[in-house]
Amino acid sequence: MRLSTTSSSAAVGNVSIHETFRVIELDAGYSSKTSKYISPPLTPRPNSRGPSTVSFSHESIHSIESQLAIIVPCKNEDVSILDGVLHGIPHECLIILVSNSEPQKYAAECALLTAYCQNAQREGIVAHQHDAGVAQAFSDAGMPEIVVPGSMPPRIRNGKGEAMIIGTALAKLAGKQYVGFVDADNLVAGSVHEYCKVYAAGLHYALNCPGSDEGDSHAMVRIKWNSKPKVRNGEIVFEKSGRSSRVVNEWMNRLLNAIVDVSPTGDNTTTIRTANAGEHAMSLDLALNLHFATGYAVEPYQLIDAWERMAASSVIDKSCDDLSCELDLSGFESPYTADDSSMSAYDSDDLSPAVSTSNSAYSTPVSSRPPSRNNIPISPDSRAVRILQIETRNPHFHDTGKGEEHISKMQAEGLSAIFHSRLIPDKLKDELRQYIKANLPGVSGIADDGTPSAPRVYPPVGAMDFAVFEARVKGLATTLKVVGEDAA
Ligand code: GDP
Ligand code: CO
Repeated sequence: MRLSTTSSSAAVGNVSIHETFRVIELDAGYSSKTSKYISPPLTPRPNSRGPSTVSFSHESIHSIESQLAIIVPCKNEDVSILDGVLHGIPHECLIILVSNSEPQKYAAECALLTAYCQNAQREGIVAHQHDAGVAQAFSDAGMPEIVVPGSMPPRIRNGKGEAMIIGTALAKLAGKQYVGFVDADNLVAGSVHEYCKVYAAGLHYALNCPGSDEGDSHAMVRIKWNSKPKVRNGEIVFEKSGRSSRVVNEWMNRLLNAIVDVSPTGDNTTTIRTANAGEHAMSLDLALNLHFATGYAVEPYQLIDAWERMAASSVIDKSCDDLSCELDLSGFESPYTADDSSMSAYDSDDLSPAVSTSNSAYSTPVSSRPPSRNNIPISPDSRAVRILQIETRNPHFHDTGKGEEHISKMQAEGLSAIFHSRLIPDKLKDELRQYIKANLPGVSGIADDGTPSAPRVYPPVGAMDFAVFEARVKGLATTLKVVGEDAA
């Protein structure tokens, strides 16, 4: 693989997000060596025009893939489409399928994964989101928030974010170092393959380039697909941006502009192109450290959470200059609550109110408080976070028949993550409220004045007791199946 790189990145504290890299060659050749990321690594070569390129050897790609779990969240997708997705995942990667499908479909998905892994002599894990044993394992290991309160047998909440949490916890049990996410409704196996190769190349780059603390940084790779094709009047139109991405990216860029420390261009109106990136990968350490949000808020919230907590010292210091805030990290010790009423929700699992009224750090519309370190669970992990955005060659052909309601829901959930950020200035927040009021009226979770309910946010997966989690999963889960000898 060969990627173009750019020197431009926007920094908020020690969280940097790069301008979009591009895939130059899907395969950079048999003899390709991994480019040395020598200093200055990201600037174009003298006399060359445009961005630099870096190549990755097969060994470099393999070194990541052999430690990479690819998590596939799946809810009632066509099994023949899932079949293509599985076939696109590189052999060395561990497949973790987390399903929220109806029983019959789940049985077909299990049979598919088993047959495929046996045939291809590779490893795979499959589990159902509603497995009572898995829910019990999360409860007992210290994350009861993910379980529907009072459910008997216990059941994990619906939502893609929740599936990602389960997958991440299973990847940790399987001893992997990286996690990547791939949707189950992708119609083109070749694009899944490209995404996974991009994950490996991007993670290798982010972890090894100068400024990465010699492999000690956190790394994340977010896919900017080349286009999202739609059929219009019988013709395929290769749209460059999705309807939800367009809106969420714009507001995320506005937030970035308000909080950025170092801006290469002085204007970050287009820096973020992957706020909604369903396809992304990261070091397991980072996945264990981040707070996952529910449903489709999960991807935008990753950026918000990284800025709020991992870059917090810088951002909050700035806010505090005006407010004479006092340092109080007491909130970090136990900021979570198992009291479900403290969390608002969009998912259909429960009937939580659209806007929560409790004082939990996870439910109070946080930006209604003055920006301060009070109640902000700043991560104790101060490693640099390097976020790459990489544009693929393949278009993203996926199931486009999920309807208008689906798009509105995605927008509402993404915008709510931005709206409730502790970092959003009041003026921008008001503008966003007006936008939501005008454009998303009547959408579930949106109040009449345009205020979106706060997304449900979970404690970091890494805060769980994994010895307990492993014992419970192995002892109690009935739907969990491991295929291939060394998978777990
Ligand atoms: P979009 O592609 O961003 O419009 O979102 P999709 O509706 O395609 O969802 C992305 C992926 O998440 C798909 O593979 C879905 O099947 C999957 N998904 C959505 N909701 C859930 C859920 O509640 N649980 C699980 N396990 N997967 C889900
Ligand atoms: Co989709």
